Parts: sequence; structure tokens; C-alpha cells
Amino acid sequence: MSRFAERKALRGDESALDEAERECFSDAWPGRFFAAEMDAPRRYCQVLTDSGGQLAAYLFCAWQYLDLHVLKVATRPGFRRQGLAQRLMESAEAFVVREGGETITLEVRQSNTGAQALYSNMGYHIVGSRPGYYADGEDGLVMTKMFTDSEALYDEGLR
Ligand SMILES: CC(C)(COP(=O)(O)OP(=O)(O)OC[C@H]1O[C@@H](n2cnc3c(N)ncnc32)[C@H](O)[C@@H]1OP(=O)(O)O)[C@@H](O)C(=O)NCCC(=O)NCCS
Repeated sequence: MSRFAERKALRGDESALDEAERECFSDAWPGRFFAAEMDAPRRYCQVLTDSGGQLAAYLFCAWQYLDLHVLKVATRPGFRRQGLAQRLMESAEAFVVREGGETITLEVRQSNTGAQALYSNMGYHIVGSRPGYYADGEDGLVMTKMFTDSEALYDEGLR
């Protein structure tokens, strides 16, 4: 059995998220952003904790109509390459299917080849770019994965 447990992010997690975020991103969200996301409607905010309850990885998403948009996904440096980000993304995919959503979409820095490898191994495709998307001017790539059978939808349209 995995020594990591997944649960919904809760008020009270903000300080651990704030600390983890500064370990993981140069343009870190402050803890209050996480709190605002947890309180907002139509969100999917999950964390993985280790056996001691320490925050190991987190995923924050927001529904945009039938697309679940990934706002944040990160694994703390000491917990990387153990499948944790992939586990959170797979949980999000199961959630999208359960809820009748159509896609998961995210932006990733052009230079972030590690994260791009994670997503493309999971079946995400680059569908566009956002020039100057990040505050420091770096371009973002848009990646998405579809959970509906587009051919079936097309056939229905023809019926
Ligand atoms: C990118 C990130 C979320 C990956 O988290 P992780 O928990 O280490 O990823 P996983 O262990 O689930 O990786 C699953 C697979 O994805 C690929 N992968 C993940 N990180 C990779 C890297 N740095 N380089 C190459 N491939 C990578 C590998 O195929 C990996 O499988 P393997 O370890 O058996 O080779 C983590 O490095 C991180 O938090 N980085 C800083 C924040 C960030 O960039 N977030 C994403 C913003 S879009």
C-alpha cells in the first residue's frame, strides 16, 4: 500500500502549501491564494500527505465549463519521481469522467521539460502557445487531454 494518502485540500493547509510553493516555483502563490481557491465554487483541490501527515504534493484545478483547468500541480523536491504528480493527475482524470467533463487543460513553461514529459506520457497534447504568459515573459504551452470520444460525438452530429 502507498505510504501517501490523498485528500481534499482544507483550510489550515495554507501555511504548508505556502512553504511547498516557495520550494517549487520561482513565481510562488502566497498561502491566501490557496485559501481563496479552496473557498471558491467549482474547484478541485487535492493534496497528498506522507504517513506523518506532511504535505508531499498538491493539485489545484478550476472548472471552466466542461474543462477542468489545472491551476497548480507540484511535488515537493524531497518527494519527486515517486509517481505523486501522476497519481494526482490520474485522480483528477477520474473526477472529470465521473462529473461528465470533457477535457483537462493546463499551461506549462516552455522550459519545463520535466513537467511536459509527465503530461505527454499521460496522453496530453500541445494544442497551442501563449506568448509571454508568465510574469517573467516566458511563453506558456497549452496542453490538453480529452475524455470524450470525439468520433462518437461527430457520428451523433451526423445522425
Ligand atoms: C513536474 C513535477 C510536478 C513532477 O512531479 P513528480 O511527482 O516528481 O512526478 P511523477 O513522479 O509523478 O512523474 C511521473 C513521470 O513523469 C515524467 N517526469 C516527471 N518529472 C520529470 C522530470 N523532471 N524529467 C523527466 N521526466 C519527468 C517521468 O516519466 C515520470 O516517470 P518516472 O519517474 O518513472 O520516469 C515536479 O517536478 C514539480 O513539482 N516541479 C516544480 C513545479 C512544476 O513545474 N509544476 C508543473 C507546472 S506546469
